[in-house]
Amino acid sequence: MMRRSVIMGTGAALPPRRVTNAELAERVDTTHEWIIERTGIEARHIAADGETTATLATEAARKALEAAGVSADQIGLIVLATATPDQTFPASATIVQTALGIDDCIAFDVAAVCTGFLYALSVADNMLKGGMAEHALVIGSETFSRILDWEDRATCVLFGDGAGAIVLKAEETEDRGILATRLHADGRHNQLLFVDGGVSTTGTVGKLRMKGKEVFRHAVVNLAAVLNEVLAATGHDASEIDWVVPHQANKRILDATAKKLGLPPEKVVITVDQHANTSAASVPLALNVAVRDGRIRKGDLIVLEAMGGGFTWGAAIVRY
Ligand code: UT7
Repeated sequence: MMRRSVIMGTGAALPPRRVTNAELAERVDTTHEWIIERTGIEARHIAADGETTATLATEAARKALEAAGVSADQIGLIVLATATPDQTFPASATIVQTALGIDDCIAFDVAAVCTGFLYALSVADNMLKGGMAEHALVIGSETFSRILDWEDRATCVLFGDGAGAIVLKAEETEDRGILATRLHADGRHNQLLFVDGGVSTTGTVGKLRMKGKEVFRHAVVNLAAVLNEVLAATGHDASEIDWVVPHQANKRILDATAKKLGLPPEKVVITVDQHANTSAASVPLALNVAVRDGRIRKGDLIVLEAMGGGFTWGAAIVRY
C-alpha cells in the first residue's frame, strides 16, 4: 500500500458562445476547409464579457466537486494552471477559492501554458503525497481569446476558451491513482511560441505569437519521448494503455504521436474538433468528456500528455 492521489471526479465549463470556422472566415482570410484539413478544428468556444478564467474555473470546479461527492470545505489545496489569469496578482486560484466559499486552504496558480495542467497535477500529487492536504482541486482554465491577434489567421483560428477541473484525494492504495508524472522545460525555444508583452517588459498584456510548423515538429518528438518515460517509470507497456488523453492542439499531432507509440487511434480522446486548443484547459476538458460519456471507467490505465510554450512538456500515467 502506498499514499497516492486518486481522481475522484471531473468537471468542465465552456462559454456558451460557439464560434464556427465559417464565422471566422468572415473576419479573417481563411476557410473552413483549410482549418479542418490542417488542424481538425470545427469550432471553439469564446468567452463573453464577464466570463473569465476564474469564473470558468469555478464552474468546472463545482461540477468536479459534485461528481466526486466532496464538499468545498474538504478542499485543502487548489492548484490552477493558466497563462491568462484574471489579474496579474493575486492568483486566480484565490478567486476560485472565495467563489467556492472556502475560507482557508492552499491556493496558487501554475504557469506552464499548454503543459500547465500536467505541471499542476504533478505539483498537487506531490503535495498530497507529502501530507500537505487530503483533498485537492486541480484546474486548467484559460481565456486565450483575450491574447489572440484577431488579424493573424495563422494563430487566431487555433484557440478557444474553457476550463476543466478534477478532485484528487489522498488514499492508501495498491495501484490506483496517479502512478507517475514526468515534466520538462527547455527555455531556448521561447521565441517559437510566446506572448509579445508582459508586466515587467512592455507593461502590456501582449498577443500570442507562434511559429506553428516548428512547434509541431518538436511536439511529436517530445510527446512520444515523455510518454515512453512515464511508461518506463511504472513498467507498463504502451499496449496496456486503455486511453490517451492528450493536449488538444492539432489532430495531426495527436495522430502522429499515437502512431509513433504504436497506439490505435481509437484509444485517443479527441476534443480538438469542438474545443480547439484551450491551452491548460484542454487535458482536463478532454478527460471530463471521456469520463462522462462512459469511455473511461474505474480501473482503466490512462495517460495524459501535453506540450506547449516554453517549451514545456509532460505526461502522467493514472489508474483511474
Ligand atoms: O498548444 C501549443 C502547441 N501548439 C501547437 O502544437 C501548434 C503546432 N502547429 C500546428 O498545429 C500547425 O503548424 C498549424 C496548424 C499552426 C499550421 O499548419 P501547417 O501545416 O504547419 O501550415 P503552415 O504554417 O506551414 O502554413 C501553410 C500555409 C501558409 O501559406 P503559404 O506560405 O504556404 O502560402 C500560411 O500562410 O497556410 C497559410 N495559412 C492559412 N491559410 C488559411 C496559415 N493559416 C491559415 C489560415 N487559413 N487560418
